[in-house]
Amino acid sequence: PRPILLTRHGESLDNVRGRIGGDTVLSEAGEVYAKKLAKFVEKRLKNEKAASIWTSTLQRTVLTASPIAGFPKIQWRALDEINAGVCDGMTYEEIKKNMPEEYESRKNDKLRYRYPRGESYLDVIQRLEPVIIELERQRAPVVVISHQAVLRALYAYFADRPLNEIPHIEATFK
Ligand code: G3H
Repeated sequence: PRPILLTRHGESLDNVRGRIGGDTVLSEAGEVYAKKLAKFVEKRLKNEKAASIWTSTLQRTVLTASPIAGFPKIQWRALDEINAGVCDGMTYEEIKKNMPEEYESRKNDKLRYRYPRGESYLDVIQRLEPVIIELERQRAPVVVISHQAVLRALYAYFADRPLNEIPHIEATFK
């Protein structure tokens, strides 16, 4: 069976500051990851002429893909991170302190909770449908470089995990 490789982007400057959303570039550690990933992908997909690299439209995934040579790269808006709406750019601490009711509602139902003027996990799952259809249709390997919430949803689809587990799947930097 042909592989679908899922990876989060390398660490971004906003990740270092603990800020959600945004569109920052990679940290030094993030750049190291991008180079390692390129080596891994180039070796793993050496004889796979038709393979492709899919990213979101955000800088941190595009920059993570950039050292990979020899494969076409495709940007999908549907692979962008969950839209945190009015909370975009905040830390979880700031949300807890300044918007305690929002913080609580999200904690109580992370799957259905929709950020004001943003998205819920259910919204993300829905917008991923065209990506999943295209992934299923591809005959060649695909490397998907995306974001935590989106990757949880994609992984859950392919690993057949229940909906309510999706927001809690482990996907953080180690
Ligand atoms: O910026 C968004 C995070 O990557 C999503 O993580 O849904 O666990 O807050 P979370």
